[in-house]
Amino acid sequence: MFIAANWKMNLDKKSISEYAKFLQKFKFSDKVETCIFPPTIYIDYLHSLINDLPISIGGQNCHYKTSGAFTGEISPNFLRDTGCKYVIIGHSERRIINNENNAEIKLRAEAALNSSLKVILCVGETLIDRQEGKALQFIEKQINDCLPDNYENLLIAYEPIWSIGTGKIPSVFEIEEMHTHIKKIINKFVNKKINVIYGGSVNIKNINEILDITNVDGVLVGGASLKAKDFLAIYSAAVKYLNIS
Ligand code: PGA
Repeated sequence: MFIAANWKMNLDKKSISEYAKFLQKFKFSDKVETCIFPPTIYIDYLHSLINDLPISIGGQNCHYKTSGAFTGEISPNFLRDTGCKYVIIGHSERRIINNENNAEIKLRAEAALNSSLKVILCVGETLIDRQEGKALQFIEKQINDCLPDNYENLLIAYEPIWSIGTGKIPSVFEIEEMHTHIKKIINKFVNKKINVIYGGSVNIKNINEILDITNVDGVLVGGASLKAKDFLAIYSAAVKYLNIS
């Protein structure tokens, strides 16, 4: 079970310090893996505050080259060097705002894997694709186009674009159908279990229902991860779910 916090471009030094104080008081379980994705500039700072805790730290993106004349970009090696274990690749905000296409996302994922990072590859359809009944097809193409050649350290995050930050989530049936579909697509390439986590308006109210869905191996939480109390409540729900299931 994997519970991830994507802080996006939120939380400054002071709020991260407050957040870390909360984390320090909490008792973590070894059954649930957790990773925080802070703004890149604060990776080192967060690390210095929580490196005694069983929490991984990850980057929100990385470049497909390890060095060079790429002003403002982040090398996967730099993430590794600052103690990151994971990196998110292909988040829909980067696909839309930064025009990252499938081919580039595949290169970024491969570079990250070559730098010994674990990759969370994000896929997700638009509302129009969902309404027109093309969601499964759309995701299949995204995976076929973005999937790196090495699957060893890969997780997929299914994040329907229309669900991110909107408070709307797909039905239980839709999530189960998509996660099962994703696992089937990946199994065509490799006979290995790849974890598929769900992201998009996950919160303390819907976490139990989401975790109970077949083929959901965890969640990627945005907005609801910005308050330590809420994120830890989501984490605790996952621990409780594993203890009773
Ligand atoms: P959200 O974001 O939880 O705020 O919808 C999720 C994400 O973008 O990873």
